[in-house]
Amino acid sequence: MLALTRNLTRLQTVAPAVVGCRGKHDLPKLPYEYSALEPIISREIMELHHSKHHQTYVTNLNAAEEQLGDAVQKQDVNKIISLQGALRFNGGGHLNHSIFWKNLTSEKTTPSADLKQAINDRFGDFEKFKKELSTITVAIQGSGWGWLGYNKKTGKLDLATCANQDPLEATTGLVPLLGIDVWEHAYYLQYKNVRPKYVEAIFEIVNWKDVSERFAKAK
Ligand SMILES: [Fe+2]
Repeated sequence: MLALTRNLTRLQTVAPAVVGCRGKHDLPKLPYEYSALEPIISREIMELHHSKHHQTYVTNLNAAEEQLGDAVQKQDVNKIISLQGALRFNGGGHLNHSIFWKNLTSEKTTPSADLKQAINDRFGDFEKFKKELSTITVAIQGSGWGWLGYNKKTGKLDLATCANQDPLEATTGLVPLLGIDVWEHAYYLQYKNVRPKYVEAIFEIVNWKDVSERFAKAK
């Protein structure tokens, strides 16, 4: 009871800040044209994925935050708790896709010397890393994401998978560097049910400059 009272007091304290943040998320612009990643990812997939799917996560995240603001103001703990699923799903969808678009490019890029070294130290060599990340990503049951992340505790790289739109950092503590979206909306129109072919192909368009910058920042 004492803990609940404390939490309510804390929620009351943060309420104005939460209310003040209502509806602030926007769909980020893609750093390239919808057709830029062809033939690896078709214009049609990119347009639907960005303008429909990602937009829906943003819209629903803003709606959930608005409801959260109201619930916090009213100290409606049941409502606050009931919103956690929508916040996780839509907030995760927004975070994941915002990283994903920047993780991809039509330009030829290579990992920085630092990242290359960290990959070799952790996985043996680049091909072994690619094989390991591909294997766990292809094996995800249903919808989810395969990730290369940075483990701040060990100072090393790690691989992980997350179900649905669970965001990597909030779920595992790893800082996200490279994410592979294996929801069917990311590949089905082009690769049908052949997920391994899509995952193999996506390595052709990884923006290693972006991944290297995330790595440098995370360290
Ligand atoms: Fe997606």
